[in-house]
Amino acid sequence: MCGIIAYVGNKPAASVVLEGLKKLEYRGYDSWGIVALTNDLQQPFSVIKRIGKIGHINSDYINEAIKLESHTALGHTRWATHGGVTEQNTHPHLDCTGRIAVVHNGIVENYQQLRSELAGHGFVSQTDTEAIPHLIEHLMVKEGMSFVDAARKAAGMLQGRSAFVAVNSGTKQVVAARKGAPLILGVHENNDKEFFIASDVTAFLDHTNKVMYIDDNEMAVIDGRAAFFNLTTGNETVKRVVEIHWHRGHANKEGYDHFLIKEIMEQKDTLALAINQDDAKIMAVAEEIKAAYGTFFVGCGTAGKVCMAADYLFSKIAKKHVNSVVASEFGNYQDYLTPKTLMIPISQSGETADVLEAIDVAKSKNVKVISLLNVFGSTMMRMSDDFFMINAGAERAVVSTKATTAQLAVVMLLAYATAGKLQEGKLLLMNTAAAVNDMLNPRYDEHIKKLAALLSDRKDMFVIGRGINYPAALEAAIKMQETCYTNAQGLAGGELKHGPLALVEEGTPCIVLVANDETKSDILGNAMEVKARGGYIIGVSPENNEIFDYWLKVPDVGNASPIVNIIPVQILAYHVAVLRGCDPDFPRNLAKSVTVK
Ligand code: G6P
Repeated sequence: MCGIIAYVGNKPAASVVLEGLKKLEYRGYDSWGIVALTNDLQQPFSVIKRIGKIGHINSDYINEAIKLESHTALGHTRWATHGGVTEQNTHPHLDCTGRIAVVHNGIVENYQQLRSELAGHGFVSQTDTEAIPHLIEHLMVKEGMSFVDAARKAAGMLQGRSAFVAVNSGTKQVVAARKGAPLILGVHENNDKEFFIASDVTAFLDHTNKVMYIDDNEMAVIDGRAAFFNLTTGNETVKRVVEIHWHRGHANKEGYDHFLIKEIMEQKDTLALAINQDDAKIMAVAEEIKAAYGTFFVGCGTAGKVCMAADYLFSKIAKKHVNSVVASEFGNYQDYLTPKTLMIPISQSGETADVLEAIDVAKSKNVKVISLLNVFGSTMMRMSDDFFMINAGAERAVVSTKATTAQLAVVMLLAYATAGKLQEGKLLLMNTAAAVNDMLNPRYDEHIKKLAALLSDRKDMFVIGRGINYPAALEAAIKMQETCYTNAQGLAGGELKHGPLALVEEGTPCIVLVANDETKSDILGNAMEVKARGGYIIGVSPENNEIFDYWLKVPDVGNASPIVNIIPVQILAYHVAVLRGCDPDFPRNLAKSVTVK
């Protein structure tokens, strides 16, 4: 799982790649590397590899490191899977002759076998990736293949989902092979001037919005122009240039210290944008949900919690059962799938490997797939029969906030539409958007900041909810875990007494998500159980209550309560992170787009 960008053109290639890598850093930030093709026959590649983030590196630094002018460069930002975070394991990886360089995203599942078959080659890293340049070299030397043929054959031999870009210093050709992991090609008007290859279109949108899609099991070859070939047959495929009209949102922090708090505050607007959907389309999908023999909402991480919320929201609002399955587990349900099943995958990035794999499973059973996505042109979009954009704009912080609440809003619209009450749902969500706009003011932020100071030395915490606020509690707990490394457990309030209560000590914080609904008195009862054992109760609720030690007021928005209840916890997690010296935008060990299983 990582970010790739390659550039071929008349601009200083290393600088273009550097800027692209900064936009891809959300895919991994353990280390980064750039290889530039030079005109020095003795040393055709200039390589720089560094541990850590790339965000603060400037062009001067890169130009100094690369030294020679270059018009072809590949870059990579890494999230370590095979091999630790070291310079040796950082991409690019080279073959024995130093004439083939490769950057790679995904996993080569059969790398051990390949590495043993390539015995005698000088491997210098522990990565799966390094098998690729050596394999290409082997095919060129031992089987007399051209670079392009060898790269194609090598790609065909890799097992697992991955994508790589390779450059050959001899022929100056660049090849980009896609097998299950994303790669997109950016071009100018006539497919003859400048070429960008990246894991995600945002890496080169500053230069061009014209793309040629590299489909799965295909490779692109840049050699004066871009040509495309099927990886299996080698046959050339004809491509169109497509324009992407996607506003990726503001790419800078706009005065905020971090992307995370900026994106939390953007929820003033994003909810209204999310519900700005085509009514006819929402109604048509609602009809499909009614007619389906089983609807499956499928996602990972935060999006997985939204899927779980869908289960509750559909049963409460539409009196309709839908299934919610964590994407990595979806394969276990394949025997229940029929051509009358409907799948609704939810993914911010549209690139999460587990989700894509689940879609593959669904498609193999002829299941219709209608996705909820935020990134236009993503792999999930291209794999789906139809899709809704959640319109949250680019989310840069690894921790998902505005995309989550936008996903919840669209799911609610679908639930109301399925109940035949679309306008009622829209009105509720419009009022919720307005209430969130009011709520996100500086005084509210200050109030939460004070709570963060009280909690900054607490390492453990509970977050409890019931009904539609149970998935919200799970989501709130994830925010505390990933943003400020608090060991937060999200629980259904009723489960406390079945074990977790034993962990409550004097001062153990417990966030209680309360809604003015049928679950209210029970969840307050659960909070009481924690308080009776010394717990410190933080009530997230429209109304204050004497059992709350600290009250975070939220608007009373009925069935939309999960949306407003999550937001104060997002802000709390942010402030605790800052107080603890954590980086709120780049939590340790995580990445925004998880493209490995
Ligand atoms: C990663 C991110 C999470 C996200 C999850 C699913 O773990 O850190 O914030 O919820 O992936 O991502 P997706 O792009 O599929 O919504």
